Amino acid sequence: MAAKILDGKKVAEEIKTSLKEEVTRLKARGLTPGLAVVLVGEDPASKVYVKQKEKACEEVGFASQVYRLPEDTSEESLLQLINELNDDRAVHGILVQLPLPGHLDANQVIQAINPAKDVDGFHPFNVGRLAAGLAAPVPCTPRGIIHLLEAYNIPIAGRHAVVVGRSNIVGKPLAQLLLARDATVTVCHSKTGNLTSFTRTADILVAAVGRPRLITRDMVKLGAVVVDVGINRLPEGMVGDVDFEAVREVADYITPVPGGVGPLTIAMLLRNTLEAALAGQGGGPPGE
Ligand code: GUN
Repeated sequence: MAAKILDGKKVAEEIKTSLKEEVTRLKARGLTPGLAVVLVGEDPASKVYVKQKEKACEEVGFASQVYRLPEDTSEESLLQLINELNDDRAVHGILVQLPLPGHLDANQVIQAINPAKDVDGFHPFNVGRLAAGLAAPVPCTPRGIIHLLEAYNIPIAGRHAVVVGRSNIVGKPLAQLLLARDATVTVCHSKTGNLTSFTRTADILVAAVGRPRLITRDMVKLGAVVVDVGINRLPEGMVGDVDFEAVREVADYITPVPGGVGPLTIAMLLRNTLEAALAGQGGGPPGE
Protein backbone atom coordinates (compact mmCIF):
# COMPACT_ATOMS: atom_id res chain seq x y z
CA MET A 1 0.00 0.00 0.00
CA ALA A 2 1.31 3.45 -0.88
CA ALA A 3 2.47 5.69 1.94
CA LYS A 4 0.30 8.39 3.46
CA ILE A 5 1.36 11.87 2.45
CA LEU A 6 2.57 14.29 5.15
CA ASP A 7 0.85 17.38 3.80
CA GLY A 8 3.13 20.24 4.84
CA LYS A 9 1.22 22.77 2.81
CA LYS A 10 -2.01 22.06 4.68
CA VAL A 11 -0.37 22.07 8.12
CA ALA A 12 1.46 25.33 7.29
CA GLU A 13 -1.83 26.96 6.25
CA GLU A 14 -3.34 26.01 9.62
CA ILE A 15 -0.40 27.61 11.42
CA LYS A 16 -0.67 30.77 9.35
CA THR A 17 -4.42 31.03 10.04
CA SER A 18 -3.82 30.91 13.80
CA LEU A 19 -0.88 33.34 13.52
CA LYS A 20 -3.06 35.77 11.59
CA GLU A 21 -5.59 35.79 14.43
CA GLU A 22 -2.85 36.29 17.00
CA VAL A 23 -1.34 39.18 15.01
CA THR A 24 -4.75 40.88 14.89
CA ARG A 25 -4.96 40.71 18.70
CA LEU A 26 -1.38 41.96 19.11
CA LYS A 27 -1.92 44.84 16.72
CA ALA A 28 -4.90 45.94 18.78
CA ARG A 29 -2.45 46.14 21.71
CA GLY A 30 -0.04 48.21 19.60
CA LEU A 31 2.45 45.44 18.74
CA THR A 32 3.13 44.53 15.10
CA PRO A 33 5.73 41.75 14.72
CA GLY A 34 8.51 42.95 12.42
CA LEU A 35 10.93 40.84 10.38
CA ALA A 36 13.95 42.14 8.47
CA VAL A 37 15.28 39.84 5.75
CA VAL A 38 18.68 40.53 4.21
CA LEU A 39 19.57 39.10 0.81
CA VAL A 40 23.05 39.67 -0.61
CA GLY A 41 23.63 38.94 -4.29
CA GLU A 42 21.68 37.17 -6.99
CA ASP A 43 21.49 33.49 -6.03
CA PRO A 44 18.34 32.40 -7.89
CA ALA A 45 17.11 29.94 -5.24
CA SER A 46 17.70 32.49 -2.45
CA LYS A 47 15.73 35.09 -4.38
CA VAL A 48 12.77 32.69 -4.58
CA TYR A 49 12.96 31.84 -0.84
CA VAL A 50 13.16 35.50 0.17
CA LYS A 51 10.15 36.35 -1.99
CA GLN A 52 8.22 33.51 -0.31
CA LYS A 53 9.18 34.82 3.14
CA GLU A 54 8.13 38.35 2.21
CA LYS A 55 4.76 37.12 0.93
CA ALA A 56 4.15 35.01 4.04
CA CYS A 57 4.85 38.01 6.31
CA GLU A 58 2.34 40.05 4.37
CA GLU A 59 -0.26 37.26 4.58
CA VAL A 60 -0.21 37.15 8.38
CA GLY A 61 0.06 40.92 8.87
CA PHE A 62 3.70 41.29 9.93
CA ALA A 63 5.72 44.36 9.06
CA SER A 64 8.46 42.96 6.84
CA GLN A 65 11.36 44.70 5.22
CA VAL A 66 13.61 43.05 2.66
CA TYR A 67 17.08 44.50 2.12
CA ARG A 68 18.38 43.42 -1.29
CA LEU A 69 22.10 44.21 -1.37
CA PRO A 70 24.47 43.93 -4.34
CA GLU A 71 26.75 40.90 -4.75
CA ASP A 72 29.87 43.01 -3.99
CA THR A 73 28.56 44.35 -0.66
CA SER A 74 31.43 44.68 1.82
CA GLU A 75 31.38 42.86 5.15
CA GLU A 76 31.66 46.23 6.87
CA SER A 77 28.50 47.63 5.29
CA LEU A 78 26.58 44.38 5.92
CA LEU A 79 27.63 44.42 9.58
CA GLN A 80 26.59 48.06 9.82
CA LEU A 81 23.12 47.23 8.48
CA ILE A 82 22.82 44.42 11.04
CA ASN A 83 23.79 46.84 13.82
CA GLU A 84 21.09 49.25 12.71
CA LEU A 85 18.52 46.45 12.66
CA ASN A 86 19.69 45.29 16.10
CA ASP A 87 18.94 48.81 17.39
CA ASP A 88 15.59 49.18 15.60
CA ARG A 89 12.79 48.56 18.09
CA ALA A 90 10.28 47.84 15.30
CA VAL A 91 12.42 44.91 14.10
CA HIS A 92 11.91 41.79 16.22
CA GLY A 93 13.54 39.28 13.88
CA ILE A 94 16.58 39.46 11.59
CA LEU A 95 17.29 36.85 8.94
CA VAL A 96 20.31 36.92 6.64
CA GLN A 97 19.62 34.56 3.76
CA LEU A 98 22.35 31.95 3.24
CA PRO A 99 24.51 31.15 1.39
CA LEU A 100 26.34 34.48 1.29
CA PRO A 101 28.71 35.39 -1.58
CA GLY A 102 32.16 33.86 -1.09
CA HIS A 103 33.93 37.01 0.15
CA LEU A 104 31.61 37.29 3.17
CA ASP A 105 32.14 35.24 6.33
CA ALA A 106 28.75 33.81 7.31
CA ASN A 107 29.95 33.08 10.86
CA GLN A 108 30.95 36.71 11.44
CA VAL A 109 27.66 37.93 10.04
CA ILE A 110 25.53 35.53 12.10
CA GLN A 111 27.42 36.46 15.26
CA ALA A 112 26.65 40.14 14.65
CA ILE A 113 22.90 39.49 15.01
CA ASN A 114 21.44 40.18 18.45
CA PRO A 115 20.65 36.62 19.70
CA ALA A 116 17.21 37.85 20.83
CA LYS A 117 16.42 38.73 17.21
CA ASP A 118 18.01 35.60 15.71
CA VAL A 119 14.85 34.02 14.28
CA ASP A 120 16.95 31.45 12.38
CA GLY A 121 18.46 30.17 15.64
CA PHE A 122 21.90 30.17 14.00
CA HIS A 123 23.78 32.39 16.49
CA PRO A 124 26.25 30.29 18.56
CA PHE A 125 24.52 31.56 21.73
CA ASN A 126 21.25 30.00 20.57
CA VAL A 127 22.93 26.90 19.14
CA GLY A 128 24.42 26.34 22.59
CA ARG A 129 21.13 26.93 24.37
CA LEU A 130 19.40 24.41 22.10
CA ALA A 131 22.14 21.83 22.74
CA ALA A 132 21.83 22.44 26.50
CA GLY A 133 18.07 21.90 26.38
CA LEU A 134 17.31 25.55 27.20
CA ALA A 135 14.63 27.73 25.60
CA ALA A 136 15.95 29.16 22.33
CA PRO A 137 14.72 30.08 18.88
CA VAL A 138 14.77 26.79 16.99
CA PRO A 139 16.02 26.73 13.37
CA CYS A 140 12.96 26.88 11.13
CA THR A 141 13.31 23.73 9.02
CA PRO A 142 14.02 21.34 11.93
CA ARG A 143 11.23 22.94 13.95
CA GLY A 144 8.92 22.49 10.98
CA ILE A 145 9.84 18.80 10.64
CA ILE A 146 9.08 18.14 14.31
CA HIS A 147 5.81 20.04 14.01
CA LEU A 148 4.82 17.99 10.96
CA LEU A 149 5.56 14.67 12.70
CA GLU A 150 3.57 15.79 15.74
CA ALA A 151 0.67 17.05 13.60
CA TYR A 152 0.30 13.47 12.27
CA ASN A 153 0.75 11.93 15.73
CA ILE A 154 3.89 10.11 14.63
CA PRO A 155 5.71 8.86 17.72
CA ILE A 156 9.36 9.90 18.11
CA ALA A 157 10.37 8.59 21.54
CA GLY A 158 12.23 5.28 21.44
CA ARG A 159 12.45 5.22 17.65
CA HIS A 160 15.57 5.18 15.54
CA ALA A 161 15.86 8.43 13.60
CA VAL A 162 18.48 8.57 10.86
CA VAL A 163 19.33 12.05 9.63
CA VAL A 164 21.27 12.14 6.36
CA GLY A 165 23.05 15.50 6.32
CA ARG A 166 24.97 17.38 9.01
CA SER A 167 24.41 21.03 8.12
CA ASN A 168 24.10 23.75 10.74
CA ILE A 169 20.77 24.70 9.17
CA VAL A 170 19.04 21.29 9.23
CA GLY A 171 20.96 18.14 10.19
CA LYS A 172 22.66 19.17 13.43
CA PRO A 173 19.77 21.09 15.02
CA LEU A 174 17.28 18.40 13.93
CA ALA A 175 19.42 15.75 15.63
CA GLN A 176 19.21 17.84 18.84
CA LEU A 177 15.43 18.15 18.63
CA LEU A 178 14.97 14.43 17.99
CA LEU A 179 17.28 13.56 20.89
CA ALA A 180 15.36 15.90 23.16
CA ARG A 181 12.24 13.91 22.24
CA ASP A 182 13.92 10.64 23.18
CA ALA A 183 14.68 9.27 19.73
CA THR A 184 17.86 7.29 19.15
CA VAL A 185 19.61 9.42 16.58
CA THR A 186 22.17 8.55 13.89
CA VAL A 187 23.63 11.35 11.77
CA CYS A 188 25.01 10.28 8.38
CA HIS A 189 26.84 12.47 5.87
CA SER A 190 28.81 12.50 2.64
CA LYS A 191 31.69 10.48 4.14
CA THR A 192 29.48 7.79 5.71
CA GLY A 193 30.45 4.34 4.41
CA ASN A 194 27.64 1.98 3.41
CA LEU A 195 24.86 4.54 3.89
CA THR A 196 22.21 1.93 3.16
CA SER A 197 23.20 -0.11 6.21
CA PHE A 198 22.15 2.88 8.35
CA THR A 199 19.12 4.12 6.44
CA ARG A 200 17.57 0.63 6.35
CA THR A 201 17.39 0.62 10.14
CA ALA A 202 15.56 3.97 10.33
CA ASP A 203 12.05 4.23 11.72
CA ILE A 204 12.24 7.92 10.85
CA LEU A 205 14.48 8.77 7.90
CA VAL A 206 15.29 12.40 7.11
CA ALA A 207 17.16 13.28 3.91
CA ALA A 208 18.77 16.73 3.95
CA VAL A 209 21.80 16.63 1.68
CA GLY A 210 20.77 18.27 -1.59
CA ARG A 211 21.42 15.24 -3.81
CA PRO A 212 18.53 14.47 -6.16
CA ARG A 213 16.81 11.12 -5.45
CA LEU A 214 19.72 9.88 -3.30
CA ILE A 215 17.37 7.78 -1.18
CA THR A 216 16.11 4.85 -3.22
CA ARG A 217 13.57 2.19 -2.37
CA ASP A 218 16.16 -0.40 -1.26
CA MET A 219 17.49 2.05 1.36
CA VAL A 220 14.19 2.32 3.22
CA LYS A 221 12.71 -0.05 5.79
CA LEU A 222 9.13 -1.22 5.28
CA GLY A 223 6.84 1.06 7.29
CA ALA A 224 9.34 3.90 7.78
CA VAL A 225 8.48 7.59 8.02
CA VAL A 226 10.43 9.43 5.31
CA VAL A 227 11.00 13.19 5.45
CA ASP A 228 12.53 14.81 2.38
CA VAL A 229 14.21 18.19 2.94
CA GLY A 230 15.83 18.30 -0.52
CA ILE A 231 14.92 20.98 -3.03
CA ASN A 232 16.81 20.17 -6.22
CA ARG A 233 16.00 22.08 -9.39
CA LEU A 234 16.51 19.78 -12.37
CA PRO A 235 15.63 20.39 -16.05
CA GLU A 236 12.55 18.16 -15.56
CA GLY A 237 11.42 20.18 -12.50
CA MET A 238 11.91 20.24 -8.73
CA VAL A 239 12.81 16.94 -7.03
CA GLY A 240 13.76 16.03 -3.49
CA ASP A 241 16.57 13.91 -2.04
CA VAL A 242 14.19 10.92 -2.07
CA ASP A 243 13.02 8.90 -5.05
CA PHE A 244 9.42 9.69 -4.13
CA GLU A 245 7.52 7.37 -6.49
CA ALA A 246 9.57 4.29 -5.54
CA VAL A 247 9.94 4.99 -1.81
CA ARG A 248 6.24 5.69 -1.30
CA GLU A 249 5.64 1.99 -2.07
CA VAL A 250 7.53 0.91 1.09
CA ALA A 251 7.16 3.82 3.53
CA ASP A 252 4.17 4.37 5.83
CA TYR A 253 4.45 8.17 5.61
CA ILE A 254 6.32 10.40 3.20
CA THR A 255 6.66 14.14 2.53
CA PRO A 256 6.24 15.33 -1.06
CA VAL A 257 8.52 17.87 -2.79
CA PRO A 258 7.23 20.50 -3.16
CA GLY A 259 4.49 20.83 -0.52
CA GLY A 260 6.19 18.93 2.31
CA VAL A 261 8.83 20.49 4.54
CA GLY A 262 9.24 23.78 2.61
CA PRO A 263 5.96 25.44 3.65
CA LEU A 264 6.60 24.45 7.29
CA THR A 265 9.98 26.21 7.23
CA ILE A 266 8.29 29.48 6.37
CA ALA A 267 5.48 28.98 8.89
CA MET A 268 8.08 28.39 11.63
CA LEU A 269 9.97 31.54 10.63
CA LEU A 270 6.74 33.46 11.20
CA ARG A 271 6.24 31.74 14.53
CA ASN A 272 9.82 32.44 15.64
CA THR A 273 9.34 36.10 14.71
CA LEU A 274 6.09 36.35 16.65
CA GLU A 275 7.74 34.75 19.67
CA ALA A 276 10.68 37.18 19.41
CA ALA A 277 8.19 40.07 19.32
CA LEU A 278 6.41 38.71 22.41
CA ALA A 279 9.69 38.11 24.27
CA GLY A 280 10.73 41.69 23.45
CA GLN A 281 7.50 42.81 25.16
CA GLY A 282 8.08 40.71 28.26
CA GLY A 283 5.82 37.97 26.78
CA GLY A 284 6.35 34.23 27.16
CA PRO A 285 9.62 32.43 26.43
CA PRO A 286 10.27 30.94 23.01
CA GLY A 287 9.94 27.19 22.62
CA GLU A 288 8.04 24.46 20.82
N1 GUN B 1 19.20 29.08 3.36
C1 GUN B 1 18.57 27.89 3.26
N2 GUN B 1 17.77 27.70 4.34
C2 GUN B 1 17.89 28.81 5.12
C3 GUN B 1 17.32 29.19 6.36
O1 GUN B 1 16.52 28.47 6.98
N3 GUN B 1 17.70 30.41 6.83
C4 GUN B 1 18.59 31.20 6.18
N4 GUN B 1 18.91 32.36 6.74
N5 GUN B 1 19.16 30.86 5.03
C5 GUN B 1 18.80 29.67 4.50
